[in-house]
Amino acid sequence: MNFKEEMAARTALCEQIIKGFLPDREAFPYMETVVDAMNYSVEAGGKRLRPMFLLETNTMYGGRRDLAAPFMAALEMIHTYSLVHDDLPSMDNDLYRRGKLTTHAVYGEGMAVLAGDGLLNLAFETAALAFDRAESPEETGAVIKALQLLSRNAGIRGMVGGQCADLTAEKHPERTGLDTLLFIHKNKTSALIDSGFAIGAILAGAPEKDLESLHKIAEDIGLAFQIQDDILDVTGDSQVLGKSVGSDEKDGKVTYVTMFGLEKAAEDVRALTGEALSLYDGLSASNDFLRALILSLVDRVS
Ligand code: IPE
Ligand code: IPE
Ligand code: MG
Ligand code: MG
Ligand code: MG
Repeated sequence: MNFKEEMAARTALCEQIIKGFLPDREAFPYMETVVDAMNYSVEAGGKRLRPMFLLETNTMYGGRRDLAAPFMAALEMIHTYSLVHDDLPSMDNDLYRRGKLTTHAVYGEGMAVLAGDGLLNLAFETAALAFDRAESPEETGAVIKALQLLSRNAGIRGMVGGQCADLTAEKHPERTGLDTLLFIHKNKTSALIDSGFAIGAILAGAPEKDLESLHKIAEDIGLAFQIQDDILDVTGDSQVLGKSVGSDEKDGKVTYVTMFGLEKAAEDVRALTGEALSLYDGLSASNDFLRALILSLVDRVS
């Protein structure tokens, strides 16, 4: 299989795993609308990169997919909730996501807030299913560690913290320097990517030294990923991206592109990815697909 075929197969596998944990609307009388809005947001599509990172580091260290699967679904639920709320009129005010109308555009703002809340809570309910799947005290311990990291990276020490700083920076662009921008990117974006890389490895019992490197790799890849996202908001094609372009300019955001220009931004995406790959090559295990996936993100167009 070439990389493209392998990518399609892994995406399909992630989709299948995620969908297996989504709620069935028939089981939720009187609240079908929020369940529909949750499922709409998750099933709209998306690249499924975070659960894919989780699956790939898990496989790389010889983990059991049965234990990783609830965390893969949980992480995609948290990521999707972050997008549903990010698109709200009170945040980035966007109408298109994953090639479809945003959740609030279809179900209304109140229901989109609830769908996000529902996904966040369902994520932890789902991740906790891994306790029932653990087959040794070591695996139970790994599930505890994984849950700690999942919650930390999702909240004020991670994504929520980054989104807060992002909104504050939008109000006060004059106070937004490089330090602030790096803080925003590392928290709003690297944190959930870190959950992918590190949780897969934790559940497989990877060595502590490798975990340290994986956190740094995820930080670099997250930064590169958000810089590329900022680039694509200027140069991308909304049909290919599946979301509106020009959103950052409309909102008056300070981004890597407004701060340094397109050329330097692209250079830094390459440099950060190079740094991530050299750390990756020092790990005690390897996974050729994951390496190729990291490299492919440098010139992603969606
Ligand atoms: C979008 O993430 C939000 C950012 C952190 C830039 P993705 O580009 O991974 O979105 P989906 O999951 O493919 O829709
Ligand atoms: C959002 O960053 C990152 C999140 C945590 C949701 P952006 O606001 O740039 O993401 P897009 O461009 O809307 O996907
Ligand atoms: Mg945003
Ligand atoms: Mg946005
Ligand atoms: Mg963006």
